Amino acid sequence: MSANVLHLDNVTMQFGGVVAVNDVSLDVNEGEIVALIGPNGAGKTTVFNVITGVYAPTNGRVTLRGKVIAEDQPRGKMRKLYSGGHAYMYPHTVNNTPDKITKQGMARTFQNIRLFKSMTVFDNVLVAKHMNLKAGFLRTALHLNGAEERRIREETQALLEVVGLTDVQDEIATALPYGKQRRLEIARALSTKPSMLLLDEPAAGMNPQETEELCAFIRDIKDRFGLTVLLIEHDMNLVMDISDRIYVLNFGALIAEGTPAEIQQNPEVITAYLGVAEE
Ligand SMILES: Nc1ncnc2c1ncn2[C@@H]1O[C@H](COP(=O)(O)OP(=O)(O)OP(=O)(O)O)[C@@H](O)[C@H]1O
Ligand SMILES: [Mg+2]
Repeated sequence: MSANVLHLDNVTMQFGGVVAVNDVSLDVNEGEIVALIGPNGAGKTTVFNVITGVYAPTNGRVTLRGKVIAEDQPRGKMRKLYSGGHAYMYPHTVNNTPDKITKQGMARTFQNIRLFKSMTVFDNVLVAKHMNLKAGFLRTALHLNGAEERRIREETQALLEVVGLTDVQDEIATALPYGKQRRLEIARALSTKPSMLLLDEPAAGMNPQETEELCAFIRDIKDRFGLTVLLIEHDMNLVMDISDRIYVLNFGALIAEGTPAEIQQNPEVITAYLGVAEE
């Protein structure tokens, strides 16, 4: 079996009394494409927010390639409110922020597309690259020397070529059709040279043809950049087609894990999410 890339141990994320993620443990291994599915409000995006350091988990641990990137236990007011399991097994050991986790090779896209709306396609990727340089966006914008600037522009050009956006690189990002905006968002995520990519509903708003192209696109960048992928998606054609394995979340808790064929036949998953095929 291939090496573990991402590992969650008993992760609970509680907002006051609302348990958004409840005692979730999961694994994503080298080179896999794994899907995280489930009804609206099941906690899928919140799992991404914990993995990427947007929220510190209320309890539990996240490791990336064996290195702890988040670890916590109920503290302060949460000591009384906590209603998840496995409390007090995970001492608070790390203080990570999203940018530090990005530097360890994690990249993501967002459920609602986040692009610089009035910038060109090229500049959207260029700025993403700038923002990930050590010194921060403003300083590097002021201090980059000619050679560095040239290198970053070349890398941006190469990346746009790979994702097939060269022909629209000078257009304003938001003037692109939806499918290409999604692709640009993925290009921005790739600009940080990640080894693990998290995609939050990449097919949302796409027509069937765009979705099919997206499927081939995800496979292509996975192979090309040696990525491991975890994706959230409601489009079951895409999920069943692309995933090696699937985790199903319902009311914050995992109710199933398996191959697409196993998940499609799982009675609990059908009841909670997939429903029964129409006669
Ligand atoms: N910052 C927050 N504060 C309070 N509650 C939150 C916060 N973030 C998420 N929640 C709640 O956590 C639950 C899970 O939300 P989440 O966005 O993770 O669901 P989801 O599975 O991604 O749903 P969807 O498929 O609709 O995107 C919801 O009840 C949501 O209202
Ligand atoms: Mg979501």
